[in-house]
Amino acid sequence: MKFKDKVVLVTGGATGIGRAMCLQFAREGAAVIVNYSKSKDRAKEVVDLIDAMGGQAVEIQADVSRDRQARQLIDQAVARFNRLDILINNAGWTRFIPHDELDALSEEILEKTWSVTVKAPIYCTRAAVPHLREYGAGAVINITSSAAYTAMGSSIIYCAAKAALASITKSLARTLAPEIRVNAIAPGFVDTGFVNWTPEVLAQLQKKTRLGRSIIAEDIADAAVFLAADANASTGQTILVDGGVVALGPNA
Ligand SMILES: NC(=O)c1ccc[n+]([C@@H]2O[C@H](COP(=O)([O-])OP(=O)(O)OC[C@H]3O[C@@H](n4cnc5c(N)ncnc54)[C@H](OP(=O)(O)O)[C@@H]3O)[C@@H](O)[C@H]2O)c1
Repeated sequence: MKFKDKVVLVTGGATGIGRAMCLQFAREGAAVIVNYSKSKDRAKEVVDLIDAMGGQAVEIQADVSRDRQARQLIDQAVARFNRLDILINNAGWTRFIPHDELDALSEEILEKTWSVTVKAPIYCTRAAVPHLREYGAGAVINITSSAAYTAMGSSIIYCAAKAALASITKSLARTLAPEIRVNAIAPGFVDTGFVNWTPEVLAQLQKKTRLGRSIIAEDIADAAVFLAADANASTGQTILVDGGVVALGPNA
């Protein structure tokens, strides 16, 4: 077990990629904090699954785009398990706005996409730093997107916000070294229902990658385990988990 006696917090851990990461870290022995903002039942379901496999988990509600709630989340997590070793900034929010529809980028969409994607990881990370530092081997993993590389994605602001998070990953890696490693994972398309794609765009996205299959949430979870447990000489890095699409182009 790679994470025996370790504690991981996954923001947005109730659904999709976050859920897969919670289960994978639990399988590797970690105690898991499953954060959610709205999906209470889904969060409880993840906790029950981890309980059933003999692990330890708790669900904690917090809107991580609010500084005070992010701080309370970290406080409650540490109060529950006495330590925090790994923080995964996974929570995300977006709306599908075709890039040529500039007027459809409302103030609300601009603000919410930026707050959840960029501000929340800063809020959670700075609140977690004293705890991640305590044993000299903390890890932060930010979930960015292949959209940060291609500027193609659900909206212009989503692409920009994920690129900002990639930059923040490097800044924090430099600032928090050597006690805390900060890395990122940039997933390609994963069919989690995250985006309100039109059926036509969804069909395009579901086309096979160079690997002959779609990317699934468990692929992202495997990369997260690698970064947290094995990549001890890596910090400030982003791993693309997209079936080679950014590096090689789509499988036309
Ligand atoms: N699916 C893809 O194709 C893809 C590709 C690249 C990157 N990503 C990234 O992967 C991450 C996970 O997305 P997903 O695909 O797994 O979609 P998802 O199932 O919709 O997950 C998004 C999660 O974020 C949580 N969340 C949203 N706002 C929050 C807030 N203010 N506070 C706390 N939690 C909040 C949601 O929790 P509640 O329901 O409780 O609000 C939900 O569990 C996101 O960062 C996304 O940008 C996804």
